[in-house]
Amino acid sequence: MMHDDIERVLISEEELRARVQALGKEISADYVGKEPILISVLRGSYIFMADLTRAIDCYCTVDFMAVSSYGSGTVSSGQVNIIKDLSDSIEGKDVIVVEDILDSGNTLHYLFQLLDARHPASIRLATLLDKPSRRTKPVQANYVGFTVPDAFVVGYGLDYDERYRNLPYIGVLKPCVYEHP
Ligand code: IMP
Ligand code: MG
Repeated sequence: MMHDDIERVLISEEELRARVQALGKEISADYVGKEPILISVLRGSYIFMADLTRAIDCYCTVDFMAVSSYGSGTVSSGQVNIIKDLSDSIEGKDVIVVEDILDSGNTLHYLFQLLDARHPASIRLATLLDKPSRRTKPVQANYVGFTVPDAFVVGYGLDYDERYRNLPYIGVLKPCVYEHP
């Protein structure tokens, strides 16, 4: 069973729900009178995005972008590819980039340069998880759900080799799952 591949639950469903609600409240208060556009970085942030947007009670719009930097490994390759670009212009808009996890910072460092060049009015980052111990690029999030230790985690949208996204909690994957190909 899928759950048998998990060493331990790091963040439970209840903790996720409470924290995402609080982030939604914080964002709603920060954007009073504005109409932010939330950009989900696919695929890892799809569940966080769905829950976060429903916890925001000001007008907002959504758009989606898909990038890849990992292949099937557990360490960033450093190379970022755009697989799907935004549908609409962000010029003059207040942008909130919604990510699953800020790890080395490679992906977001690249993405922020790309989005900045399109002249948004402002750009902020909301990440569900932050793994600061692994940072190699100077990227900082404005909204962080949880700070996590240096372990490979899956669930609530995060994958290993495209699996485990549907786990309702965040768990640490047993190393034997990725150590024996
Ligand atoms: P970065 O470019 O190293 O910051 O990596 C960001 C991306 O790597 C995230 O959007 C995730 O898709 C993936 N990633 C990094 N760490 C983990 C992890 O522990 N579990 C699952 N995916 C991860
Ligand atoms: Mg991923």
